[in-house]
Amino acid sequence: MLNSSADYQQVTATIKSLTIEPVTDAEKVMLDRVNSIQHMLSPLEPLALNRLCKKLPDKAKILEIGSYQGGSTVAIGHAIAGTSSTLYCVDTWFDFIGLHDFADVDRSAIADDLVVFSNFLKNTSFFSDNLRVLKGKASAFAELLAGAGFDLIFIDGAHDYESVRNDIKIAFSALKPGGLICGHDYHTAGKGVVRAVTELVAAVPSIKVKQVIDHTSIWFAVVETPRYEYQSTVISDLCNNNQLEEALLRSERALAEHGTEEMAKFVSAIKTEMLKKTETITDAIHHVSLLSSN
Ligand SMILES: C[S@@+](CC[C@H](N)C(=O)[O-])C[C@H]1O[C@@H](n2cnc3c(N)ncnc32)[C@H](O)[C@@H]1O
Repeated sequence: MLNSSADYQQVTATIKSLTIEPVTDAEKVMLDRVNSIQHMLSPLEPLALNRLCKKLPDKAKILEIGSYQGGSTVAIGHAIAGTSSTLYCVDTWFDFIGLHDFADVDRSAIADDLVVFSNFLKNTSFFSDNLRVLKGKASAFAELLAGAGFDLIFIDGAHDYESVRNDIKIAFSALKPGGLICGHDYHTAGKGVVRAVTELVAAVPSIKVKQVIDHTSIWFAVVETPRYEYQSTVISDLCNNNQLEEALLRSERALAEHGTEEMAKFVSAIKTEMLKKTETITDAIHHVSLLSSN
């Protein structure tokens, strides 16, 4: 657990500057292996992921959402092969290039779904003892992953706003307190990524360690109270869907559990919104009765 602003700055700077040190011979072997796979990472991104995972404790549990043919997976795999750490990979392993947010990618280079999945298994076979494969949509595993206590979660699934928001929400529910969450494509071309990460991570006061790793588009954050962040995201989703009663119930429960000023503000904002609605309805009824009496 971090306990001072100096620690926050130190941890942020250490992770941010992961790509600064020169590449070692062992890392060159890892990069050659990654680059033999079709992937969408920029040159220093596999290095950043690999070095990040080497910083994790023994018996670390890692989750990757979005593996494709295993580019990032292999970078992580090189850090944990032969250790007692485990990587869980979630992917549908279908040909995602047709999705609108990847419309500019050359389809002719893409193999069919079964080839993509078998390439993934082949590319990651060198650390299959450390690997668990969850084939399907991330949302289908939300219940299974909740409370799993991952040390690190890497998000690189679909890049539209709703999907990234949902993946971050799943990550909050699955992360251990003080765990690391990170993700790919934090740049303006990945607008959905930037919007979701800004709302759920960058703009959140209780998440203090957050940045982008130098020379990469990988954002990261240390989440000290993932359960709280999960509850806040659920409440904000409920408000956006106009389910104010349920939002109030959950925010009052979260306030009793965490006692934060932010949650107290949430509770009073929801109450104000509910009151406004009641007044609008009362006004409408009054208006109707005036009309009918004329
Ligand atoms: C950008 S690629 C991942 C690239 C990979 N990390 C690499 O380094 O090459 C996105 C992947 O996310 C998967 N995907 C898209 N939507 C998903 C969802 N809802 N749940 C799980 N995986 C999803 C796609 O099948 C695709 O393999």
